[in-house]
Amino acid sequence: MEFKFKQANSIDYKSVTPEYLFNERRRFLKLGVGGIVGVLSVDSLLADIARELKYKSMSKDEMLKLNGEVLHLTSEELATSYNNFYEFGYSKSDPKKKGDSLKVSPWEISIEGEIKNPMKIELENLISKVNLVERVYRFRCVEAWSMVVPWIGFELRELIKMVEPTKKAKYIQFTTLYDPEQFPMQGGFFGLNIGRNASFLDFPYKECLRLDEAMHPLTLLAVGMYKKRLLPQNGAPIRLVVPWKYGYKMIKSINKIEFLEEQPISTWEAENPKEYGFYGNVDPEVSHPRWSQSSERVIGQRGRIPTLYLNGYAKDVEHLYAGLDRTKLY
Ligand code: MTE
Repeated sequence: MEFKFKQANSIDYKSVTPEYLFNERRRFLKLGVGGIVGVLSVDSLLADIARELKYKSMSKDEMLKLNGEVLHLTSEELATSYNNFYEFGYSKSDPKKKGDSLKVSPWEISIEGEIKNPMKIELENLISKVNLVERVYRFRCVEAWSMVVPWIGFELRELIKMVEPTKKAKYIQFTTLYDPEQFPMQGGFFGLNIGRNASFLDFPYKECLRLDEAMHPLTLLAVGMYKKRLLPQNGAPIRLVVPWKYGYKMIKSINKIEFLEEQPISTWEAENPKEYGFYGNVDPEVSHPRWSQSSERVIGQRGRIPTLYLNGYAKDVEHLYAGLDRTKLY
């Protein structure tokens, strides 16, 4: 199915895109293309985007720049074959191999809890109500590897405004679909349906953000990447993307969004609270108990690069954590 989306806005492209490409983008917007977003078909928009960003035509076409460091867009092949999605298995290759069991359409999302407008909404209907944007973000896994991924999605704050949180709402919790028929590991090890408690993680996978983190314009619900719909291995049909947090916060295949008054315990925090916290903020100075977080292996490249505080997005988001002890925000 086709969808319509808007190219990344200037803030985001400026921070990750070389200046000459950013200037191209401004020219593009001046021509008025930005103004008719939502009317163009995805195909014509993709053609324009491909031309504007020149990913395909330049020799170092996939180089992006952030905070003075040169980054490379991770190849689509790697980003869709080296995955963490424990519902499909514990090896990086399992999600791609086993992802076909997930039925991504139709897909209903239940939005509930401390809101004025609770709803169950079909994903395509939700997509028709929001502005899809493309954003190129750094992606840093807690296992100290990283990628750079071009997402397509919408700002989570659009959905939050739609459902009108009550004054009590302080947190927003996301839950992955629970269906052992579609996610073999939810039934137990090796696909044996020996009961939920036999699984390594307590499924369904849950993650949570503070409401102000969720309202930040960088926070996305992604429905696509590399200019296409998400594939099952990457969390189809809809997943969370919060670029300054470790990848485990970026919950996949979401079918429930709940607004809460109290801070809940997320899946990894419940699994091992000494190693995984509520925040999951990327911080090179706060080591994981079993390894340093000061550098990262860039998937698809040789060697390691230094890890940046809040994954390079500190100027945009560090105010959210003013006064809090950094060592407690892992
Ligand atoms: N969401 C669910 N439901 N199940 C998972 O196992 N793994 C997380 C996150 N979201 C996970 C999940 C982890 S640990 C990472 S690093 C990212 O997804 C990986 O996303 P990617 O495979 O698209 O790179």
